[in-house]
Amino acid sequence: MRPAKRMAAMPASGTLRMLDLAKRLEREGRDIIHMEVGEPDFDTPEHVKRAASEALEKGMTKYTPSAGLPELREAIADHLSSKGIAASPKEVIVTPGAKHAIFCAMAAALDPGDEVIIPSPCWTYEGIARLVGARVVYVEALQEDGFRPRVEAIQEKLSPKTRLLLLNYPNNPTGAVAERGDLKAIADLAIDRELWVLSDEIYDCLVYEGEHTSIASLPGMHERTIYINGFSKAYAMTGWRLGYAVAPAELVAEMVKIQQASTTCPTSFVQVAGIAALRGPQDCVERMREEYRRRRDVIVDGLNSIEGFECYRPRGAFYAFPSIVGLEMKSMELCEYLLREAGVAAVPGSEFGPYGEGYVRFSYATSMDNIKKAMGRIEEAIARL
Ligand SMILES: Cc1ncc(COP(=O)(O)O)c(C=O)c1O
Repeated sequence: MRPAKRMAAMPASGTLRMLDLAKRLEREGRDIIHMEVGEPDFDTPEHVKRAASEALEKGMTKYTPSAGLPELREAIADHLSSKGIAASPKEVIVTPGAKHAIFCAMAAALDPGDEVIIPSPCWTYEGIARLVGARVVYVEALQEDGFRPRVEAIQEKLSPKTRLLLLNYPNNPTGAVAERGDLKAIADLAIDRELWVLSDEIYDCLVYEGEHTSIASLPGMHERTIYINGFSKAYAMTGWRLGYAVAPAELVAEMVKIQQASTTCPTSFVQVAGIAALRGPQDCVERMREEYRRRRDVIVDGLNSIEGFECYRPRGAFYAFPSIVGLEMKSMELCEYLLREAGVAAVPGSEFGPYGEGYVRFSYATSMDNIKKAMGRIEEAIARL
């Protein structure tokens, strides 16, 4: 028996590969500092956990509508309106994690052979695009531009097959925040060429300098934007699996069919926790952001003081993405060395599309103590090279 032919082209997650390697060393008794996974080290806020357990106590253990609980779709629409993004509840679909929202969106919007343009370095969208038969065309985002997207570079890669532009700001792995002018130029292009824009804004609550603008809020973009967000990063809820998409109601109806065919609906009591997160106090988000900002400054200064690393100061998300060209090593080789010699797990830039080589991603969603310890260990290991 053999698996489907398309599986040969499916990339495996590089982040999870580094995590596996790190776990193997831990089983051998090594002390490893995990800076490879993008997972908040904070616990989910108490009032959110309480809402879920109360829902369970009340017997909320059944299927919900496939698009999500009407009360949660409403809470999401209200939450977005407060950010200047117009959305009605019927334009919202709730999913088990933002990743599944992206899957439903691509499956509903793309035909086999369609092209998706993505600025790289970028997160692992390619697997999802390939699964639905689409082709990814990468555009280089340059460190000298703060890794912001440039409309001219996107324009050069347009073809008659281009169907969707995928943007992710604040960005994983670079921490780049797009400026309003960047997004306005890209929006004009999308309108002119009748393209979908999938905007993954899962780190929108983590901006340290400047302001986050959603491309969905720009004139003419409501009808062509598939807006993605979720609860994993803002409310430290990675394990709960809760995300959502906002798109024109006709596309949402198609995405709901995919959800019906794949997962039926997101978990019932988790959706109640989502309502509590959005309707409840937001000072927990603020507190986490302030702590991430402090950690960012420590890790960026730490990396810049180590020979061979040159780290741009990210304006958002929770990743440091230093250039390692001064070390004359491939990013995978360096990550393996750091894991073995320093006990620090990071992700090679080569995992973030064709323009990620020459960089390494460190997540600073780990304690300040771990960050300081990691910087000391990396410095010592690099000195031994
Ligand atoms: C850019 C980006 N989008 C989406 C996700 C997926 O989030 P979720 O946990 O909601 O599926 C991640 C998770 O790391 C991410 O970094």
